[in-house]
Amino acid sequence: MDNRPIGVFDSGVGGLSIWRAIRRMLPQESLIFFADSGHVPYGEKSTAELHDLTGRIAGFLIERDVKMIVVACNTATVHAIGYLRESFPEIPFVGVVPVVKTLARRTRTGTIAVLSTPATAQSPYLAGLIEEFAPDKRVINVGCDGLENMVEAGEVGTRATTALLERHLAPVRGSEADVVGLGCTHYPFLRGRIKRMLGRGVHLYDPSRPVARRVRQLLRERDALAANPKPTYGFYTTGDADVFKRVAGRLLRTSVRDVERVEI
Ligand code: DGL
Repeated sequence: MDNRPIGVFDSGVGGLSIWRAIRRMLPQESLIFFADSGHVPYGEKSTAELHDLTGRIAGFLIERDVKMIVVACNTATVHAIGYLRESFPEIPFVGVVPVVKTLARRTRTGTIAVLSTPATAQSPYLAGLIEEFAPDKRVINVGCDGLENMVEAGEVGTRATTALLERHLAPVRGSEADVVGLGCTHYPFLRGRIKRMLGRGVHLYDPSRPVARRVRQLLRERDALAANPKPTYGFYTTGDADVFKRVAGRLLRTSVRDVERVEI
């Protein structure tokens, strides 16, 4: 048993979709969430910048004695998880990547779509996943610039968000794709909208629960699951703490307290 917290981080509030799944599946785990909102969007950063930022966040979380770090960001995972594992070999890392394998298995039409940030869409990592798991499928790979910023601003239901979604979903709608992967952790908060726009015949896949299951499996293997009768939930942001409280509260539909602004 290990009652120390799990660290979870993202470029902003998107990683809360993973945080929420872990909290539901492992209600006795304490969690520290780190939102690097001062540097969002990660989807437009270089690999070198992502190494630098994620390395500093991992260092920050390790100083707070976390037992595991969940990289709750596809962009950071595909560009930096190898670097993080090498830099901090003492800590287990769990990442999140677009669910290409599941999409390839589930499609009936042979066309799959992945929505992610431009940095993930163009990454060799995603190209590798497609080559390995979907070599015989038609893949609509859409880099959705700007979408994470809408979620970050708490604008999940505005006209501007709908207009942006119209643009990014156009290649999916104009295709035979019947399965769509949400390849950015901000997008599950737009799930209802995306679903309505794509229609009933299209299924959306969000990796939050598989990631939570992986966390549980790894902790179990290491005999490191927690049994906290009163788990704690702390939040850090490099952005504005009040904005984080307001937006996170709205996305999670609960009040979010204990938010501290920090520099890294
Ligand atoms: N939530 C992040 C992801 O899963 C990235 C959003 C961003 O900062 O661009 O890719």
